[in-house]
Amino acid sequence: MTTTEPNTETGVAVTLNGAEIIANKGELLIDAAERHGVYIPRFCYHPRMKPVGMCRMCLVEVDTGRGPALQPSCMLNVSDGMVVDTESDTTKKAQDGILEFLLINHPLDCPVCDKGGECPLQDQTIAFGPGESRFVEEKRHFEKPIPISDVVYLDRERCILCDRCTRFASDVAGDPLIHFQSRGNQTEVNTFPDEPFSSYFSGNTVQICPVGALTAKPYRFKARPWDLTETASTAVTDSVGARITVQSSRNEVLRYLGVDSDPVNWGWLSDKERFSFEALNSDARVTTPLVRGDSLGSASADGDQLVEASWSKALGMISTALEGVDASRVAVLGGARLTNEAQYAWAKLAKSVIGTDHVDTQMDDGLSPESLIDLPKATIDDVCAPGGTIVVVGVDPKETHGSLFLRLRHAVEHDGATLIEINERSSGLTPYAAHSLVATPGSVDAVAAAVAGADSVDGLGDLDAATVRAAAAAFAAADSTTVVLGSGSLASKGHMYDRAGAILAVAGAAVLPLPHRGNTMGAIDAGLAPGVLPGARLDTAKPAGWDKVPSFTSTGTRDIVAAAGAGAIDVLFVIGADPRTDIPDNEAAKALQNIGMVIAVETHLNATSLAADVVLPAAAAAAEVDGSFTNIEGRLSPVARKVTPQGTARPDWMIAVEIAAALGHDMEFIDLDELWDDYAMASPLHSNVNMAAIAESGTSGLMLDRASAGVAVGMEGQGAASGLSLISTRTMYDAGTTLAHCPSLAGLARTTVAAMHPATLSSHGLSDGDSVIVRSDRGSLTLPCVADEGVPTSGVSIAFNQSDVSAALLIDSRRAVTAVTVEAAS
Ligand code: SF4
Ligand code: SF4
Ligand code: FES
Repeated sequence: MTTTEPNTETGVAVTLNGAEIIANKGELLIDAAERHGVYIPRFCYHPRMKPVGMCRMCLVEVDTGRGPALQPSCMLNVSDGMVVDTESDTTKKAQDGILEFLLINHPLDCPVCDKGGECPLQDQTIAFGPGESRFVEEKRHFEKPIPISDVVYLDRERCILCDRCTRFASDVAGDPLIHFQSRGNQTEVNTFPDEPFSSYFSGNTVQICPVGALTAKPYRFKARPWDLTETASTAVTDSVGARITVQSSRNEVLRYLGVDSDPVNWGWLSDKERFSFEALNSDARVTTPLVRGDSLGSASADGDQLVEASWSKALGMISTALEGVDASRVAVLGGARLTNEAQYAWAKLAKSVIGTDHVDTQMDDGLSPESLIDLPKATIDDVCAPGGTIVVVGVDPKETHGSLFLRLRHAVEHDGATLIEINERSSGLTPYAAHSLVATPGSVDAVAAAVAGADSVDGLGDLDAATVRAAAAAFAAADSTTVVLGSGSLASKGHMYDRAGAILAVAGAAVLPLPHRGNTMGAIDAGLAPGVLPGARLDTAKPAGWDKVPSFTSTGTRDIVAAAGAGAIDVLFVIGADPRTDIPDNEAAKALQNIGMVIAVETHLNATSLAADVVLPAAAAAAEVDGSFTNIEGRLSPVARKVTPQGTARPDWMIAVEIAAALGHDMEFIDLDELWDDYAMASPLHSNVNMAAIAESGTSGLMLDRASAGVAVGMEGQGAASGLSLISTRTMYDAGTTLAHCPSLAGLARTTVAAMHPATLSSHGLSDGDSVIVRSDRGSLTLPCVADEGVPTSGVSIAFNQSDVSAALLIDSRRAVTAVTVEAAS
């Protein structure tokens, strides 16, 4: 929804309530009037969905030359010479009648209704409606409320049949699970029996329902709108950077609402983004420093338990642990949940104060920093441009980047974009793909080369040449091509996805990278990545204001794990991460147990922090700290402190400053303004950025002026595996730390299965539902198998990071693909 000012030369002249206005040609009357300060009441109209003229609340008197008549302004395009009267007696009588009609069956629930105080039906009844009802008959009644999903309740008595939720479900989310049923006076909105509204995006219907018919379980009866205060912020659960409003009451965050950012999320959120605020209020928050009992001395009665300690005690232990330690024996893992400011502070602490390059925000599951820096960049709007061609490689945005999935789906379904998908298994985008290429594990780069016309379409494992040739023809014929690039199956390594992105970029496509973790792009810009310095620089020149830069270059997680395995890491900082469960190789994660001192900077306890020697309580981004976030496009948007951090938790940037001080170093900043001065000095990319500029950037955010530096990734081929290979991708609901502490979302992960093509099942003598043993060189798992035509015949697909089964036990991160065998469990 781009609200451009009308062009007086190409616009059309409309008389609105006696005054002449210039409206955009083709614009809806309801929008043109609003932009000129005349609000026409509405219920069913939503600017992000096709109008349906369902409620008739927007009737106004319009004369197009045939005499005045009532017309629904949400269905009427402006035309030259149109005369509109939104205040005439006829218009007022129509508005009066519609509201009286809507209220015939509407219950008198306002005192107990979650919508009370922010209800368009209340507000418009007062502003435009009748003073009283003439309806004395019995209103219709339904059981109320009924759960229609795990997080949404429906009160049918309050529904005014506006068709917003149903349109969202079918037209926006592509999950047509909520419908109108019955006819006439009996019409109701509902789900079908045994088909709950189990959509990853169901919470959006609660936000757009104009009445209290749909309510969200995590917010029901928690507060009244007038008790809430709010501030604009950014969702940090994935890397899209969806804009949100954080609402709280009495220092407790109670709700996130989507904000309509035109270039980013259009107001939509995934349920994971929307309801992740629950984790802020979890009892499992780390609220005070914790230190391991035996670190306190043998006289401690607490043995090796984590015990509460003062900040000075914990900081003292850290400085003692770092005393005299060579910089190459210190590592920092994690940091994607941090703000840009905290990432810069940690980059400066690690590289300038300590001097280590063993720093990695991604944990061996992402694209290389070189790719994230060098590939020519596309914005979300570039990718979703009408009529464009989008190549999605190595990612299922429906599972991992929910609000981007909705933009991509809209581009294909409503704006004529052509989708080519190259994945190791089918995805949530497969139903919308004109060309879906399910590649043999380990061959994604070869398939990308064939699609780009750079290599043969023959010999691509499971894929037949004709299918690849058709996709290559679509790619070659496209006027504008963009790539959405993920890092694919966690069991396929070897920079295959970096190469696929580079090949497609060389063929002329700009790339929108999709790192898995929240603020990965901010970490790259800040230098919190191996081999990178602030300003996303890959050289080694010392940044202005820094004491030094590391004397060695690390590859990140791989080097850290190898060094830890060899006993060559003495101190590991883990910032907002859980490498024990989240590194996609259990043996690699185990190597971290060799490290003498692990310091976790965490909001919640998880497997890693529970085993750490020191745990420092961190304030959580999105609602407890001020700062900013950099999304997949490189767009900066504000993160705002709405509530006081719990206990003695501190912002991550402040923790970095205090550790530096404990080591006898002055980081040269003690507040965010000074931090930005320091950051701007160290990074030319950020020379004009500060807190005020980010705050003033509005819902569009602030794009940094970065010149793309060409393609630098090698393009040699990677052979595909023979036999069966493991495919392990992420899902929306998994065992991640945030989700584990959201009561409404924690139980939503599906039972983990081994998904295989029906032909694979049959060639192994298996049937759908059988219990199977999947074995790799690293270990084995026993789990049910299911038939899935979206998996190549050469693959076995098992979701990653699930609480019931750990695919990391099978993955061998040293190999390009992890070979597996499958047999029936006895
Ligand atoms: Fe009152 Fe609005 Fe709730 Fe209806 S939906 S009961 S008008 S607050
Ligand atoms: Fe409209 Fe709400 Fe009824 Fe859905 S439940 S049709 S959004 S009033
Ligand atoms: Fe126009 Fe409902 S808003 S008919």
